[in-house]
Amino acid sequence: MKIILKTKIPGPKAKKIIARDKQFVSPSYTRDPNCQLVVASGKGAYVEDVDGNIFLDFCAGIAVNSTGHCHPRIVEAIQEQAKTLIHMSGTDFYYDVQSRLAEKLANLAPGKEPKKVFFSNSGAEAIEAALKLSRYATGRKYFLAFYGSFHGRTYGALSLTASKTVQKHNFFPLVPGVVHIPYPNPSKHTSNNENECSEEVIDHIEKTVFKTLVPPEEVAAVFFEPIQGEGGYVVPPLKFPKELKKLCEKYGILLVTDEVQSGMGRTGKMFAIEHFGVVPDIICVAKGIASGLPLGATIARDSIMNWKPGSHASTFGGNPISSAASLATIELLEQQLIKNAAQQGAYILKKLGKLKEKFSIIVDVRGRGLMIGIEFISTELRNRIVTKAFHKGLVILGCGTTTIRFCPSLVITQEDADCALAVFEDCLSDE
Ligand SMILES: Cc1ncc(COP(=O)(O)O)c(C=O)c1O
Repeated sequence: MKIILKTKIPGPKAKKIIARDKQFVSPSYTRDPNCQLVVASGKGAYVEDVDGNIFLDFCAGIAVNSTGHCHPRIVEAIQEQAKTLIHMSGTDFYYDVQSRLAEKLANLAPGKEPKKVFFSNSGAEAIEAALKLSRYATGRKYFLAFYGSFHGRTYGALSLTASKTVQKHNFFPLVPGVVHIPYPNPSKHTSNNENECSEEVIDHIEKTVFKTLVPPEEVAAVFFEPIQGEGGYVVPPLKFPKELKKLCEKYGILLVTDEVQSGMGRTGKMFAIEHFGVVPDIICVAKGIASGLPLGATIARDSIMNWKPGSHASTFGGNPISSAASLATIELLEQQLIKNAAQQGAYILKKLGKLKEKFSIIVDVRGRGLMIGIEFISTELRNRIVTKAFHKGLVILGCGTTTIRFCPSLVITQEDADCALAVFEDCLSDE
């Protein structure tokens, strides 16, 4: 497939739908008025709008459509499951597909100890479960989370989030007990020295936070995105996760990795934390886990997930159709898509590195696999490039204040990558 633009965007049919949407749908979403895409269908890495325009999708429903749009194997898994059982609630009853998915996830998660899985419907719910579980398991009250982090919009997850104030405006009071700490960002560090950047944050936690704000023995967990997502696709220094884990072990604090955006093969490994050789205590996943069906999972060691029956549950969590889609997704990821993410990601990063040399408006290029951030000199310029790319048929999203993210589906070919890069370069040349 390729990009085909037939009308101005939005076209006539799209305009009608947007008008109805404006009248009846909550205005709280984050739609960009300059990039109004009304999607009719999707196939692989491409989407078609209601007026017949075809776009190359380099955002994949915010890093969700890991297997591309409507992968035949996923469609088949959903249809087969829908014919036999749609819902029964795993809260009160059992069904094979949920237990098989739990077994698969428990075995995939890093670390040798046996694990258990709590199922929910979204990233925020996976985080809520981790919040409750870490307080329950440790008997401690406080949490640490990072500036720039995004963990979701329910009250607990929102309390950890430190991404944009608009997300908190008028919602106070939040869940008490969260202390925010700086996320180590090598490209922003004065010395550009990865080790110093990592040490500074660890020192800040030990020498400032634990001495002046909270006693470490009262901290239940640290919530950490192994690659920061909404905050700007920031890759921490290689040694930071290990140092953080060491600190956690020293004080009996649980390390929770939020892999909602970085997990399920996107970075070229099943979980992004595997790039850093660290075994977390709890892992939260959602987004790419079921190719677009709602599913969240919180994975923890048996010794941590030992709450009493009735402690926590979800009517829809781990429903049969999402579970079936997830098992099919994981099969495709393991067969070839994780490898493809690593290969295509390395190819794109290399090409973007060349664009950085050519265009001084690019400040930094970073990422792992198909979780790639391109940072610009200003927010206005970043926004302009997102808009221009959209009107040339490439769908991309911003993150942080000055960064564009590439988070396409993991099925993209080198041809798709070249097409995206050509449109992107075209937009840069216009500046
Ligand atoms: C790292 C991370 N955690 C949690 C969430 C929340 O996920 P959801 O929107 O499914 O609630 C997101 C969503 O963007 C995310 O990127």
